[in-house]
Amino acid sequence: MPSSPEWRRYFEENARSLLDIPWHLGPELTPDETAAIAQSLKEFQAGESSEGKYLLRYAQEYSECTGDQEYVPAIRLFIGEEQRHARDLARFLALNDIPLVPTTFTDRVFRRLRHLFGGLEISVAVLITAEVIAKVYYAALQHATQSVILRKLCDQILRDELKHVQFQAEQLAKLRLGRRLLGRTATMGLQRFLYLGTMLVVWFFHRKAIRLGGLSVLDWWRSCWREFRQAFGAPLAESGAAPDRGHETGFARHEGPAGGPDR
Ligand SMILES: [Fe+2]
Ligand SMILES: [Fe+2]
Repeated sequence: MPSSPEWRRYFEENARSLLDIPWHLGPELTPDETAAIAQSLKEFQAGESSEGKYLLRYAQEYSECTGDQEYVPAIRLFIGEEQRHARDLARFLALNDIPLVPTTFTDRVFRRLRHLFGGLEISVAVLITAEVIAKVYYAALQHATQSVILRKLCDQILRDELKHVQFQAEQLAKLRLGRRLLGRTATMGLQRFLYLGTMLVVWFFHRKAIRLGGLSVLDWWRSCWREFRQAFGAPLAESGAAPDRGHETGFARHEGPAGGPDR
C-alpha cells in the first residue's frame, strides 16, 4: 500500500504531466449533443467544485492522531485536482455557451451526507462512491460526443479518477483496519447501499447523456458494479486488508466503461 509521501509525490508528478487540451478548437458541441449532455455536464461540473474545507479539517485531525503528516499535503493536492476538473469543465461549458449552475440537488445531498456524521471515514466513503460512478460516467460521456476537447478532457479526468479511487480505497482500508467481521460486514453493506442509491440517482438524472454514450440501463448497472468490485476488491470487503489491484494497468490509461461501447 503506497504511503502518504508516495501519494504526495504522485500528485505533484501528475500536475507536471497533464494532457494538452486543444482549447483553440473552440465550440464543438453539435445541437444534438448539447441537448443530450449540457444539463448533465453542468451538474457534474458543480459536483467537482468544492473547496474541500471539511475534508481538509478531517485530514488534519487524522494526521494529528496518527502522525501521518504527509496525508494533509496529499489531500490538499487531491482537492486541487478536483478543482482543476471543475475549472476545465467550466471552461468547456463557457466555450460552448452553456451557463454554469452553482449547485444541484444531488450535489447538495452528497455534501450533506459527507458532513452528516463528520469524520474522515464517512467523508472518504461518500467521496469514493461519487468517484467510482464518475469513472463509468466520464467514460460514457467520452463516447457520447465527437468534441475533441471534451474527449480529451474525459481522458484526463479518467486518468485522475483511476488514481483518486485507489487513493481513497487505500485510505478507507487503513481506517477500517482491525474492524471485526460484524463491523466489516455492516460497513460494506452500508457502502453498497450508498453506492446502489447513487448509481440509480445518477442514471435517473443523467440517462440521456449516458444513453448517448452507448450504455443501456443494464450496461450502466453492470459497469457500475464492476467498477465497485475493482475499487473495493475482495480482500478489503471480506477481510479488512488492502484491496486487490491486479486488474489495473497502472497510471497510464483508463480502459473505458466495462461492457461499454467501443467506437
Ligand atoms: Fe473529479
Ligand atoms: Fe476524483
